[in-house]
Amino acid sequence: MHIRTAAMADLAAITAVESACFPAAEAATEADFKARLSVYPDHFWLLEDESGTIVSFVDGLVTDEPTLRDEMYSDASFHDESGAWQMIFGVNTLPAHRRQGLAEQVLRRVIADAKAQGRKGCVLTCKDKLIHYYGKLGFVNEGVSESVHGGVVWYDMRLTF
Ligand SMILES: CC(C)(COP(=O)(O)OP(=O)(O)OC[C@H]1O[C@@H](n2cnc3c(N)ncnc32)[C@H](O)[C@@H]1OP(=O)(O)O)[C@@H](O)C(=O)NCCC(=O)NCCS
Repeated sequence: MHIRTAAMADLAAITAVESACFPAAEAATEADFKARLSVYPDHFWLLEDESGTIVSFVDGLVTDEPTLRDEMYSDASFHDESGAWQMIFGVNTLPAHRRQGLAEQVLRRVIADAKAQGRKGCVLTCKDKLIHYYGKLGFVNEGVSESVHGGVVWYDMRLTF
């Protein structure tokens, strides 16, 4: 297994993993990823298996804004390379590869890179069933998010370095 950053050539593969992992109302679209990849390809962490297939990935922009807002998902112009907070938008592992610690491996790399880049920490939103999962990595639950993404309830989670 190998973790690398992304390039525009990964667009179709990334979009396919996302749609295998999230319902349509929540999944980022190919257009969203195209915009993200054109602005912050280095803020994608793609985990490939031995054959070069992307089986798990994390992405998200960097900003001085401390809270993840829904507008950030589809507007890559919120990215500020020198920003304080690494946002985490999607955490995705293909169904056949789950429960092997792959997402954790990717998240630990994201956290290590954000630390090395001098960020204040990492921010994400998640559903209630995953609060404990991110908690194991040090994220603290800040309560129900203002997000209306996909019409479900999200929780604001923050890991401060
Ligand atoms: C959430 C998601 C990213 C997790 O991916 P994953 O690669 O399976 O994650 P991990 O393997 O690191 O951990 C998942 C669980 O497997 C467990 N696990 C890890 N390695 C394991 C192993 N070898 N054997 C058994 N269980 C294992 C973890 O402890 C964790 O259990 P927990 O939920 O009780 O804490 C994946 O299920 C997914 O893509 N879901 C759909 C999209 C989604 O909801 N994303 C999150 C949005 S906030």
